Formats: sequence, C-alpha cells, structure tokens
Amino acid sequence: MGGASLEREGAVGVITIDNPPVNAMSPGLPGAILARLAEAQADDAVEAVVLRGGGKGAFAGADIRSFGTPWPESEPTLRDVIPAIERSAKPVTAALAGYCLGGGLEMALSCHYRIASRKTQVGQPEVALGFPPGAGGTQRLPRLAGVETALAMIVDGTPLGAAEAAEAGILDRVIDGDLLEGAVAFAQERIAAGAPHPLARDRTPLLKDPEIFAATRERLERRARGQRAPIACLECVEVALELPFDEGVRRERAIFEECMASAESRALRHVFFAERAVRKVPGIGKETPVRAIESAAVVGAGTMGRGIATCFANAGIPVRLMDSDPLALERALAAIRSDYEGRVARGRLGAADAEARIGLIEPIESLERVAGTDLVIEAVFEEMALKEEVFRTLDSVCDEGAIIASNTSYLDVNRLAGIVPRRRGRVLGMHFFSPAQVMRLLEVVRTDSVSPETLATVLALGRRLGKIAVVAGVCHGFIGNRMLEGYTRQVGFLLEEGASPVEIDSALTGFGMAMGPCAVGDLAGLDVSWRKRKANAHLRDPSERYSAVADRLCELGRFGQKTGAGYYRYEPGSRTPIPDPEVDALIADVAAETGINRRAIGADEIVERCLYPLVNEGARILDEGIALRASDIDIVWINGYGFPRWRGGVMRWADETGLDAVHAAIARLGESQDHWEPAPLLSRLASEGKSFADVDRAA
Ligand code: 3HC
Ligand code: NAI
Repeated sequence: MGGASLEREGAVGVITIDNPPVNAMSPGLPGAILARLAEAQADDAVEAVVLRGGGKGAFAGADIRSFGTPWPESEPTLRDVIPAIERSAKPVTAALAGYCLGGGLEMALSCHYRIASRKTQVGQPEVALGFPPGAGGTQRLPRLAGVETALAMIVDGTPLGAAEAAEAGILDRVIDGDLLEGAVAFAQERIAAGAPHPLARDRTPLLKDPEIFAATRERLERRARGQRAPIACLECVEVALELPFDEGVRRERAIFEECMASAESRALRHVFFAERAVRKVPGIGKETPVRAIESAAVVGAGTMGRGIATCFANAGIPVRLMDSDPLALERALAAIRSDYEGRVARGRLGAADAEARIGLIEPIESLERVAGTDLVIEAVFEEMALKEEVFRTLDSVCDEGAIIASNTSYLDVNRLAGIVPRRRGRVLGMHFFSPAQVMRLLEVVRTDSVSPETLATVLALGRRLGKIAVVAGVCHGFIGNRMLEGYTRQVGFLLEEGASPVEIDSALTGFGMAMGPCAVGDLAGLDVSWRKRKANAHLRDPSERYSAVADRLCELGRFGQKTGAGYYRYEPGSRTPIPDPEVDALIADVAAETGINRRAIGADEIVERCLYPLVNEGARILDEGIALRASDIDIVWINGYGFPRWRGGVMRWADETGLDAVHAAIARLGESQDHWEPAPLLSRLASEGKSFADVDRAA
C-alpha cells in the first residue's frame, strides 16, 4: 500500500509518495497523499508544494492488480486526490523522474506545474490495458498539449520523452541536475512570481487539424480491427472538444468503466502480468551466475541462420556465420545486406549504423572457425543425423565453456545434449521464429541436463536480443509448433468438407488472428511441412483420417508465394493472395475421392474447429510441465503465431469462453470425428468449474 511523507525545504513542502517498486496507486495511498496535502495547506510556513515519487521516482499510475477487485469503500481514490490538488491555494509542482504513466500522469496534469528529469517518459498507456485513461487524462492532455499530440499519445499509448513533452507544453521545465533541488528552486520561483497559478482544466483544447479524428478513426479501423479501447480513447478526446470540462470528465469515466468491464480489458490485463510472469523461472534467480556473451556463431546460413545472425548484429554482438555451401553463405550475406538497405531506405536505420551492424557479421567457411566464441547456434537442415554430426564437431572445436544451442523446430534436444556428454550442461534449444530478426518470440528449450547458469545466460541474452524468451520443455514441437499441428489438421479437413481457403482465412482473421492459416502456409512455404510429412509417413496410423489437400498442392509444385502459387495464386512480385479456381477444383477432387459430401461451413464452426485443438493440446502441454504456466502458452501464441493480444492468448481466451463450454464442444466434435480426445486436464478443470488461471495461481 505504501505511504506518503511531507518534509519542508524552506517555504516548499515536499510530498514524497512511496509505494515500491513503481509507486502505483494501491488502496491506502491516495488517502495518505490527501492527508499530506491537507497538512501542507494547514502549515502557514508552506507556500508551495512539490509532489514527487520515492525510489526511482516513477509514477506508474493506478494499481493494475487492484482492477477487478472492489476498492475498499472507506478508502479515497486517485479521483479524490486530483480535485484536492486543483483546489490547493498553494501552487503544486509535480517533479517527475523515470516513468510517469497513466494515472500518474493524470495526477501530474492536475498540478499547476510539471517539471521532469531529462530521461523521464510521460504517457497514457491505458489503451494497452483495454481502456482509456479514467481520471481526466483525456480531458486535460488536449488542453495542455493540443488535440493532435494528445490524441496520438492516448490512442497509441506511446509515451513522449521529456524534451518532446516540454516542447508539447506538457512539462514546464526539464531539469538536468538533481531533480529535488531543481523542483524546490522551481517552486520558489513560482512563489516569487505569485498567483495566478494555471490549471489545465481552465484552458481550451487547441485543434489544428479538423480532419484528425476522421483520419485516426480510419487508421484504427484497419489497425485495431475488433478492438474497442482504441476507438474509446478517440471518443474521449473528441468529448474534450464537445463538452465543458466537468461533463467531459464524467463522460470519460463512463466510457472508462464500460471498457474496464470488457473481455478485451480482462485479456489485456492478463497479458500485462503474463509478460512479467514469463521472466520468472523456477531454479533461476538473481543469485544464478550469468556468463557474458561477447561473441557468437551461427552454423547454417539459410532462412533462419541469416535472421539469427542479424539479431546478434542488431544487439551489437559480433557473430560469425557459417554454411557448408559457399553459395548459401553468399546468398545469406546478400539477403542480410538487402534487409538492412531496405531499413535504411524506409528511414528506420541510419546508413552508418547499418554498415556497422553488417560489419559485425563475419562469414566463415569452416566449423573450426567457430572456436573462441561464447555461444554457437546450430541452424542446419532439420535432420537428426546431420545435427548430431554438427554437434560432435562443434564439441571438439568449441571452447570448453561455450554454450551450444540448436534452433531445431521439432527434434529431441535431449538427444543432442547426449551426443556431447562433457558439455551437456551447456546444451539447450534456442527456437527462433521466422523471420528471426523480426519475430519477438524465442522458445528456450530446457534440456534435462542444462545447468541453471546456461539457462540464466540464454534468458538474459534473449532480453539483450530484444526477444520475449519463454522456457519450454523437450517434446516434439515444444510449445508453439506442437499446438500448431491440430490447427493445421483442421484446416485440411475443413477444406475437404466445403470451406474455401478464403473462407477459412477470413473466419480466423475475423476472430483477430494476424493472418489466416492458408495465407501463412503460402508465406512460410508449403514444401517445408510436406517434406516432414513424407519423411514421417510410416509413423501415421492408416486408420485415422488424413487430409491430402496440402500434399496435392505440393505435388503440383505449388509451394506458396515463392512459386507464385499455393492455396492462392500470386501475381509476379506481389504478395496479395488471389483465390484460384484450380485450387477449388483440386479440393473438390480430394473430397470426392474420400467420399465427403461438401457443405457450406460458417465462420463460427471454422473458428471453433481450428482453435479448440490449440486449447486441448495447450492443456496437455501444461499438464506435462512442457510449459511452466498457461500464461506462458499465451505469450507464445501472441508473439509467435499472431494470436490477438486483445483476446489474451489461447488459454486466456478459453478461460473467457468457459472451459466447460470448450470441453463440451470438443466432446461433441469427438462423437463424429477423429482427433478430438479431450485432454485430461481440460476434462478435470471443466468438471470442477475451474480455469487455466486457477492452475497458474495454484502453481
Ligand atoms: N500496477 C501494479 N503493478 C505494477 C504497475 C501498475 N501500474 N506497473 C508495474 N507494476 C509491477 C509489475 O507487475 C512488476 O511486478 P513484479 O516485479 O511482481 O513482476 C513491477 O511493478 C516492476 O514492473 P516492470 O517489471 O514492468 O518494471 P520496468 O522497470 O520494466 O517497467 C514500467 C516499469 C514502465 C512502469 C512498467 O511496469 C509499466 O509499463 N507499468 C504499467 C504502466 C501503466 O500501464 N499504467 C497505467 C495503469 S492504468 C491507470 O493508471 C488508470 C488510470 O487512467 C485511472
Ligand atoms: P534452410 O534450408 O533455409 O537452411 C539450412 C542451411 O544449413 C542451408 O543453407 C544449408 O546449406 C546449411 N547446412 C546444411 N548442412 C550444413 C552443415 N553440415 N554445416 C553448415 N551448414 C549446413 O533451413 P531453415 O529454414 O533455416 O531451418 C534451419 C533450422 O531452423 C531447422 O532446424 C529448422 O527446423 C529450424 N527452424 C526453421 C524455421 C523456419 O520457419 N524456416 C523456424 C524455426 C526453426
């Protein structure tokens, strides 16, 4: 709950708000601030007040943990603090350090003045939690910063740095030296200058571009399809122009409360905590030693190897790139260069920075040359025998302390560790996603023998590479790809039963997936999984239903975008999928051969049949301990597979739907189709009326 203290510096009363780690407004804190404010008002020796955060100085806003549980009735809230500040006869200056976000900024906006240290960031990130600011931010910010700046900050949630915030009129001064000294000096100047002391609420919002709302609305319709909060933010800022201040604040609050009660907000708040929980790994703590990774090598310069090398270069870590095929290495270097040149051309990166990063990637022609690096990532073809051979050679050439990781998508990393017994504490999986330099997800595959030090080192490295690292256990496909199998299986069945690629893709993008599965297949290349299916054909149970649609496409050389045709066709140089009657005919043939009577299939059935297998396999993965938490599975699917963040991830979405409903649907589908055996954990939770979140809480 924290507290607040009042100290005097001459005529300036300094209120310090203390609620570690980020001074969030937990129950009890607003009451403490009100009490200190009242004391400062009552003390005749105090002529001005400074409000600042203790610790690192952050004001992270409302306590997100307190949402969803009733606020104690007797306790004042932030919305009692704000008018008390505005009523203060003595000028109040907010002194901001670190992050000033959400309700923290709203409190600062109610002060007469705001000053900040140079590295401070100010923002209204509430939209990322599924609601607009709810303590007057949408009404005060346009009055201080102008409508255009405020709208962008509130709708996108992106914070401004101190210099930009001062430029926009949000801050009155940026302090380079000691913040407290600067704040006291500033407050003394205000005492000397005398009243009146300005309040944001008394100003008129300045609108320069009358088209801004229409343009933003249009942008949101494309970018935030299916979501309420971004549009709600826009509506609140519009209100600032339409209604008098107090009415505007009331309207904002009503919209805030409506959004706060939504499934979207519950999902996004879940993701906020899931992103923080995923960093917590049993057996790894602050005391676990972490090795410095100062150089790395990547073996195999194909699609993945080149992207992984780029990740290291982007993080400023020198990396050697090796391929047994000199032409492949040459192609990789050209692709890396062209990727950087594209970023320079789009203004994302300076030309000199791009050259410096390219300079960090050193092509090498033999495996012996990886010697001396701290970490080697193997990214050769997905073949066990080949990987084993590469691991044996690496073991003999690498430094004793070096870590060897495999980027395998499916193979048994325990077996790879077993190949190099002396080093098995320093072997694990680092499963990047394609394109590796873009996708944020990294599955860190924990072998049975990996040491805590190696795991901690790779998790820290993941953060340095800008990735969200999720620990996964060893199994076929780890977390993400293992779940994907049931999803793609249903796509094949639905096609045979009557849905077209467009219908399947639109049903799932309508649900919120970033791309539909047929378009994803065409993008990734249908030949990759085809080769795998052919290699594993002998393992398939011939009595189980199998869709031959994807195989047939590949037999025609339709590998997806790279061959100009897959589930869709593509004009040369274009990535736009065009429905192809040839594919419809092929699917109809396959259906006829298997004696399936085709029918119209609605979007709801498509969504249910594609997504419930994810939940079911997710439940098994959780039960087996392959994922540490259900919320880790959510992080995997949001960051690696385009599952909508605002639905909270696969497992959270299932919780929201109700596990009894999911279980009943799976059982019903299982009455007429193969592959619908409910996972034991799902059955148990459904019968007990529990959720995946309950499992996480109990862990
Ligand atoms: N409420 C509750 N807990 C919070 C919190 C908040 N607003 N902000 C951070 N925390 C917790 C985190 O969960 C984490 O807890 P843990 O150690 O138990 O996992 C701890 O504080 C430290 O947080 P981070 O690991 O995220 O620390 P960083 O230094 O990386 O980041 C930060 C700090 C930028 C402040 C980041 O935590 C953040 O973005 N916080 C959320 C800010 C936000 O969205 N504020 C708006 C809240 S809603 C609101 O104010 C409504 C109002 O309009 C009425
Ligand atoms: P790729 O076929 O594009 O590249 C593999 C490269 O390895 C080729 O350039 C080949 O010449 C090289 N190679 C083969 N044997 C070698 C050896 N002995 N020494 C050095 N180089 C050798 O394959 P891709 O797609 O990059 O996959 C690599 C690994 O990454 C596989 O294990 C795959 O399962 C995994 N992966 C692939 C993803 C994808 O989307 N393509 C995603 C995540 C992981």
